[in-house]
Amino acid sequence: MTTDELFRAIHEHHGDGEWGAVLDAGTGAHSLTWVSALPARSWKAVTADPAQAAALRKAFCAAGGHGAVESGSWEDPELLSGEVFDVVLADYLLGAMDHCSPYFQDQIFTRLRPCVGGVLYVVGLEPFGRFPDSPGRELLAQIVAARDAAFTIAGERPYREYPKEWVERQLLGAGYEIELSQTFKNVYRDEFVRTQLNVAAAQLQYVPSSALRMALHSHLEGLGERAASNPELQDGVRWGTDYVIAARVRP
Ligand SMILES: C[S@@+](CC[C@H](N)C(=O)[O-])C[C@H]1O[C@@H](n2cnc3c(N)ncnc32)[C@H](O)[C@@H]1O
Repeated sequence: MTTDELFRAIHEHHGDGEWGAVLDAGTGAHSLTWVSALPARSWKAVTADPAQAAALRKAFCAAGGHGAVESGSWEDPELLSGEVFDVVLADYLLGAMDHCSPYFQDQIFTRLRPCVGGVLYVVGLEPFGRFPDSPGRELLAQIVAARDAAFTIAGERPYREYPKEWVERQLLGAGYEIELSQTFKNVYRDEFVRTQLNVAAAQLQYVPSSALRMALHSHLEGLGERAASNPELQDGVRWGTDYVIAARVRP
């Protein structure tokens, strides 16, 4: 994956100016590692998952530090009401929204607008193409499909990614102007495969039918074996893109 390249692109766009107050609007260990290390005056991070909020507080909020983690959903109009940030980061927030707050994706940039005093950075994953055109890409498509199927059969909603063009349309419609729109090629290695298969396997305990549970378990194992012997994956499968969009509220 190219995540560090994405943060580098944000740094480059931001330049040498002050970072001021920074909001990580869809936080996790990876983005908060970056945000909490910025030379910012203060930072705040939001997650919809209370358990994740507790873990991130433990890891990142030292006593007397300049950062805080909030647990809540952007669907709640009171969340961070009246708070304005110089930089707002929406790092893979959109793709996770179908899981946490379905049908609110079309509202998120309007909802964040009062918090955006300077720049909003949106980081996202372009949805995979429908027709993978190499054995490595085909295998990745099957792994991602099995992961999403495990979530669905377990009664959870999987993530749903949105294309860069969709995000740009939403931003323009929500009163932003776009300053930067950049794509970055993705490379998937066995670590990605392991994580996806583990995430899928963790859902199996919630699958109500034992026959289906066993079938899914052996399907996931089979995919793991195929991945271990796939030469393309050993090198890294190049497939699809991530994007970074920088936007400001139109004056
Ligand atoms: C894929 S994770 C983000 C990854 C994170 N930036 C990182 O680098 O680890 C998505 C985050 O967005 C949060 N999220 C999704 N929908 C949300 C909503 N409606 N309100 C607040 N947070 C939300 C999730 O709880 C999670 O913390």
